[in-house]
Amino acid sequence: MSEIISTSAPGKVILFGEHAVVYGFPAIAIAINRRVKVSIIEGNETSKSLFTPDLFPKNQFDLTNEHIIPEQLKAIFFLLKKTKVIERLSYGQQILIKSQIPPSAGLGSSAAISVSLAMLGTILSNQELQLENINKIAFEAEKIQHGTPSGIDNFVSTFGGGVFYLKNSLKRIDLSKISFKIVIINTKVTRNTKDLVLLVKKRYEEKKDYVQELFNEIKTITEQAKVYIEKGNIDKIGELMNENQVALEKLGVGHKKIIEAINILGNEGALGAKLTGAGGGGCVIGIFDSKEESSIAVQKAKEEGFEAFTTEPSKIGVIENGIKKD
Ligand code: PMV
Repeated sequence: MSEIISTSAPGKVILFGEHAVVYGFPAIAIAINRRVKVSIIEGNETSKSLFTPDLFPKNQFDLTNEHIIPEQLKAIFFLLKKTKVIERLSYGQQILIKSQIPPSAGLGSSAAISVSLAMLGTILSNQELQLENINKIAFEAEKIQHGTPSGIDNFVSTFGGGVFYLKNSLKRIDLSKISFKIVIINTKVTRNTKDLVLLVKKRYEEKKDYVQELFNEIKTITEQAKVYIEKGNIDKIGELMNENQVALEKLGVGHKKIIEAINILGNEGALGAKLTGAGGGGCVIGIFDSKEESSIAVQKAKEEGFEAFTTEPSKIGVIENGIKKD
């Protein structure tokens, strides 16, 4: 099966500010070097199909029959239609989505798919490749998938690097002075972002002063972190991650598996560790300045039954991987 064209885009981690960001406080996210790749390939079949081997147990879908497209693929289907990819596919061609990002774990897998597909559609339509436009199209799909997302995931996936998000304004952060390994531990405890956001809302309504105070703490932490990231001071970034974790636990989005994962990271020399994304399960991140220590931490986490891997910040946002001509 030969590849005709492909694009790819990165996942992300939220380093600081999750949950508080929903209430207008700042957050920091960075792209990671785990990516989604989407390609058009010549298949053996006569239909136009979608193949998603890393995402869903049933993984082959006929794109010519909208009525059988399952709910979890609605955003993907929307994009393929909006960008006229389905129209432009020839019968016998297949869209293949391959992902190195665990789905539904807070690592931006859906945004990376949306961004890659938005670029694929733009290339096929021979339109000028404007990243702003790709970001906008992907955001529409994200809204279908997640309701009222902040837009941080698709922004980071489109442009790569780091972003400081505040009240609908996304500003890039200079990552050139920092260098660290990130260990990601997936607790494999399933959680739902929407439910956790609601849980925090309930706490906010019940104990407004207390939660407001926590949000203010998180705001200070996030603002300080921006300065240290730009100065390249990873020890301070680690300390601030630990402080952010304490505030998140007080907010009520912790989990015993998150604590277990953080303890493994701490014992193996992480400079700081915290949950990333909505919490309640999902993924934990720890930063290391030593490659060896980060590899040992991954090993230890796996021995304890977690899924774990190392990654690094990535400057590379969405890219075209090349058009292969016959
Ligand atoms: O777990 P994720 O990647 O869906 O991140 C959720 C981050 C929140 O701040 C909890 C919600 C949001 O919309 O920003």
